[in-house]
Amino acid sequence: MNKILGNFLSLIGLNDLATLRKLGDIIPGPPANPLLGNLPDLQQAGGFQNYLPALHKQYGSIVKFWLGPLELGVSVSDIEILGEVTNNLSARPDAAKKLLGWMGKESITFQKPPELITTRSNFFHLLIGSSLQNLCSVSHEQTVKMLDSWSQRKDAIDVKEEFSGLTLNIVGSCSFGQEFGNTSLGQEIRTLFKNVLVNSQQRLEEVVPPVWDVNYHQWNRDVSRLHECAGELITQRKQAGGLRQSNDLLSLVLNERNDSGGQVFTDAEARAAVVSFLFGGFDPAGSSLTWACYLLATHPEIQALARSEVERVLAGRLPELEDLPRLEYLNRVIKESLRLYTPNPVTMRLVESDIPIGDYTIPTGATFCIPICVIHKDPTIWPNPDNFDPDRFLPEQEQARPRYAYIPFGMGARGCVGARFGTTQVQLMLSMILQRFSLTLSPDQEIASQLEATILQPKFGLKLLAQSTSSSVQQLELVGKGIENS
Ligand code: HEM
Repeated sequence: MNKILGNFLSLIGLNDLATLRKLGDIIPGPPANPLLGNLPDLQQAGGFQNYLPALHKQYGSIVKFWLGPLELGVSVSDIEILGEVTNNLSARPDAAKKLLGWMGKESITFQKPPELITTRSNFFHLLIGSSLQNLCSVSHEQTVKMLDSWSQRKDAIDVKEEFSGLTLNIVGSCSFGQEFGNTSLGQEIRTLFKNVLVNSQQRLEEVVPPVWDVNYHQWNRDVSRLHECAGELITQRKQAGGLRQSNDLLSLVLNERNDSGGQVFTDAEARAAVVSFLFGGFDPAGSSLTWACYLLATHPEIQALARSEVERVLAGRLPELEDLPRLEYLNRVIKESLRLYTPNPVTMRLVESDIPIGDYTIPTGATFCIPICVIHKDPTIWPNPDNFDPDRFLPEQEQARPRYAYIPFGMGARGCVGARFGTTQVQLMLSMILQRFSLTLSPDQEIASQLEATILQPKFGLKLLAQSTSSSVQQLELVGKGIENS
């Protein structure tokens, strides 16, 4: 049947697609439905985080699957091959466009060199320095508020929901400033953003846009309104003036000047940049924090070691940026949890010219997948890969491992631009939680994972019992700093 499709495509002159089918069919992989490809298998597996490990186990380090009749996915888990080829892969494929197209065509996700190189360097520059300092003070304020509310609670707390709200507030305030939490426009952006994310994973599984579905139209309206609101916020900010005094990312983006003094980002680019920061910064950090807390709650001895380090280094103070490198054990805990529950289990590139690998050729037009979740559990690199062992990240062990064995932030020309910002967020929040609470898993909590807007989350939430461990030192310190605390 698949051969017939290939021949038919040549017959009607679609030679590129015929070649894609022909070369794709030679690569090892599961049988596919001629129309739907392996989409039903992907759906049945519950997402790439389950599907790709099973495929690689059965078919080896290079494996293909079909996302519909003509969309070929090829996943490569061999890190030497990845090291050789990924630097030349800089475009995102259709699958990424389906999943992330809502961020806007000006978004970094859809840029190509040379614009991509300039935007990435602007992003790197924006996400360090004063942004990190701003992140630190916003995280103090917001995390203390959340922890204060925990101390009133006797029941189990769904930390997935708590962290999702917390990281959205933190990244929202870092992106848009105080307006994000305090104005009706900010509130509307929050709601729209959540609605858009909840339904975006579905877009990948659609062979054609479901124009008959009212929910699909509502989703499109929410996407447009989200961009409109971000645009309104930019206009308001420009009209209000005073951009120079603020440290939030929107001000930094609007203030960015090129050598001749002109604005670096157009308004549309500024809008897309801030929406990208919001998405990039909130979901992966929430997921990292959630899974780290799950692992600590189920490994009390490791939790105790991490807490005693936090108590020793911080001595009851709120964590400042300069404290973070000294939280060595906590940093190993975070790295190990990003290995086991990597927030982006797979990242994708478009193949723009044929890639010959051994007996196979990955054809032009294919979607090249980097299966981070498979690489992070390769037993030849990670003995007992499912065990939670932060000491895998002791310096001597890290140095002994091959390059690209650990890639939670991706790799090559499209690696994450917010790695430092994201790690700092998780370090600050986790150290503050451990200072004040001891965590245990609620006895009735079932654990399974699912992808929400490309990010790995616990499917049934994560209910933890949080028992207070210490005094309210942080509360007193915040009052001393003049931060309002409701
Ligand atoms: C723990 C936190 C984070 C994790 C685990 C993470 C992970 C990733 C991964 C795996 C990618 C894809 C890389 C690739 O394709 O090779 C990515 C891309 C990206 N991330 Fe992050 N990220 C985190 C935090 C952040 C933050 C805080 C921001 C911004 C505020 C951010 C912004 C981005 C952007 C804009 C891209 C797209 C880059 C491009 O397409 O060129 N990320 N991230």
